[in-house]
Amino acid sequence: MSQTALLIELEPVVADNLNRHLGLAKEWFPHEYVPWSDGRTFDGPLGGEAWSPEDSQLSDVARTALIVNLLTEDNLPSYHHEIATRFGRDGAWGTWVHRWTAEEGRHGIAIRDYLTVTRAVDPVELERARMVHMSTGYSNVHSYEVLHSLAYVSFQELATRISHRNTGKATGDPLCERLLARVAADENLHMMFYRNLLAASFELAPSQAMRAVADVVADFQMPGAGIEGFVRKSVAIAMAGIYDLRQHHDEVLSPVLRQWDIWNVTGLDADGEAAREQLATQMSQLDTAAARFEARREERRARNR
Ligand SMILES: [Fe+2]
Ligand SMILES: [Fe+2]
Repeated sequence: MSQTALLIELEPVVADNLNRHLGLAKEWFPHEYVPWSDGRTFDGPLGGEAWSPEDSQLSDVARTALIVNLLTEDNLPSYHHEIATRFGRDGAWGTWVHRWTAEEGRHGIAIRDYLTVTRAVDPVELERARMVHMSTGYSNVHSYEVLHSLAYVSFQELATRISHRNTGKATGDPLCERLLARVAADENLHMMFYRNLLAASFELAPSQAMRAVADVVADFQMPGAGIEGFVRKSVAIAMAGIYDLRQHHDEVLSPVLRQWDIWNVTGLDADGEAAREQLATQMSQLDTAAARFEARREERRARNR
């Protein structure tokens, strides 16, 4: 099926899932999650106190994870561009694209307000990193294909959910944990929306859907991969168990593949079957790599004990 035909055929599914989403999504207010009375004026035009490392009680890795999560949310204009270009701004697709953008916008607002008021991270470093990151922009390698885009966001929304939730826990700060759990609940609803659309695509065009999933799993990168120093940061995040290969395999890829009942899909052509075989190989390689990483991490922890 052509890209246009897929968008047209999927439109009623978008309408149904949009209604479902609007019924499930609860209104919430970022300002209610921020302890404003803990705040102090900063240096600069208002002559307050500059940030200093002693202002923050957080561990280095918790700070790193918070910055990565926030910068990832900050790049929303680029994500909006990607999905508005691919899915269009008309009809149910357009309503979804705008609603999703509005919900995502709340995440950056809430996390930034929280980090600034509590002096959890250096606000100057954060702002400079935001400028660099947004100036780079974001583009998905598969952004020209509807089903690849749907497969990517199904995994990505779940990945960000887990990353927010575990970052909250890693801070050891119950207020931060509550805020990030709230954000993670939004990401979960986003994941369900996209996952349901791809499930419908398996009915419409099973081989194309299988090809999309196999390609996306093979070269999956977190949406924040363009952040300066991302490799170093993501290693620290993985070492702390906030987001690692084991979680990627067990808590992101596997449950979504199971929901699509990927191993029992019927009606595949030769390429669809080949894609499924590639996917099986990819999943077992990831599992092996995850086990190797866990063993290395355990060794390193034992040495440092
Ligand atoms: Fe988000
Ligand atoms: Fe999301």
